[in-house]
Amino acid sequence: HPGVDPPARRPIIDMSYSAHFMDFKGSSIPSTMKKLVVNKLSPDFREAVCLRTAAVPTPGDAELLVRNRFVGINASDINYSAGRYDRTLKPPFDAGFEGIGEVVGLGLSASSRYTVGDAVAYFSSGAFAEYTVVPAKVCVPVPAVRPEFLTLLVSGATAFIALKRLGDLTKGETVLVTAAAGGTGQFAVQFAKQAGCHVIGTCSSDEKAGFLKSLGCDRPINYASEDLARTLRTEYPRGVDVVYESVGGSVLEAAVNNLANKGRVIVIGFISGYQSASGIPRFRGETLPVKLLQKSASLRGFFLPHFSGDYRDALSSMTHMLSRGQLVCEVDGGDLAPEGSFTGLESVFRAVDHMYAGKNLGKVVVDLAPPTVSNSKL
Ligand SMILES: NC(=O)c1ccc[n+]([C@@H]2O[C@H](COP(=O)([O-])OP(=O)(O)OC[C@H]3O[C@@H](n4cnc5c(N)ncnc54)[C@H](OP(=O)(O)O)[C@@H]3O)[C@@H](O)[C@H]2O)c1
Repeated sequence: HPGVDPPARRPIIDMSYSAHFMDFKGSSIPSTMKKLVVNKLSPDFREAVCLRTAAVPTPGDAELLVRNRFVGINASDINYSAGRYDRTLKPPFDAGFEGIGEVVGLGLSASSRYTVGDAVAYFSSGAFAEYTVVPAKVCVPVPAVRPEFLTLLVSGATAFIALKRLGDLTKGETVLVTAAAGGTGQFAVQFAKQAGCHVIGTCSSDEKAGFLKSLGCDRPINYASEDLARTLRTEYPRGVDVVYESVGGSVLEAAVNNLANKGRVIVIGFISGYQSASGIPRFRGETLPVKLLQKSASLRGFFLPHFSGDYRDALSSMTHMLSRGQLVCEVDGGDLAPEGSFTGLESVFRAVDHMYAGKNLGKVVVDLAPPTVSNSKL
């Protein structure tokens, strides 16, 4: 059967260890699992990725075996499947950036900090699988396996760290957030409000605009019904001080053209180009140096993996805010999607489509649902 590996036999494990470190007692670890594998490089996720059956991996010494319960969808899942992240990576390779679940097995040195049954979240590759082996050092203990915590790992952390390190926000400044109702945008809106700023947020529907209002966004702009550049020009003649920019192309142009003196544009992404062959949207940049100079403005790039030093602090701050009810972590589990909620690994495909159709409100999350134990070897 194409796409299905021969039934995997679990590698021999020293049973004196496994009795301690693998959850065999609950006999809940099967020998095989489902995972998503990039088989062919393409920004078309459905063309690039296929569902496979594989052996449940065994954790090494400093690793955890995590049974994923929720996995997060990111705009860059299609950049990854197109091979744009790591040019040396050749298919087949595993897909997915982040997951949250339960520790079901672990290596000896990992057991100094973790034990079977712990709830952990992680930002690491290979998350689109029922089970993932993750280095213990990249895992974050979480109070419970809830999708809200998953929203913080990449989406929340990006907004928190980018605004803190590159935003230089001061009270009273004006901040423009693009794709504001999405996974990371929702956090940028809230952190900019917490900093005492006036916040403008772009989105593509009235429902999303209503959601942005509920987050405290002062001026949601539904660009499907009003022109972004014109609205900025007429309502913000002094310009905006900071832009948290995720869309690229003409949206980036509008942002650059409507900057205040000493304005900062933080380049978070350029999703409008990701589905194209180059991955890069068209941008008319010849006059960019002139515009930046005339306004003493700057364009700043941000890439989360470069800020690992800020990561733990960001996560603990956000977890605190969440527990005190000071942070909305909106999750889109597909309840309103045409074919219903995103349940099971197969629905990752639909979840990616949902995001690229601009339909998601909040962070797109897939529920892998507790697997039924049918092929346990015990
Ligand atoms: N630099 C980093 O380290 C880092 C980390 C995480 C995310 N990001 C970036 O943050 C951005 C948002 O990512 P996310 O995962 O949080 O996704 P998201 O915002 O939850 O979803 C993407 C949103 O972008 C808009 N959109 C979708 N397709 C589009 C298209 N073809 N053209 C224009 N807009 C489109 C839609 O919102 P509307 O329809 O409402 O506009 C959609 O809801 C991406 O650019 C991503 O690469 C960067």
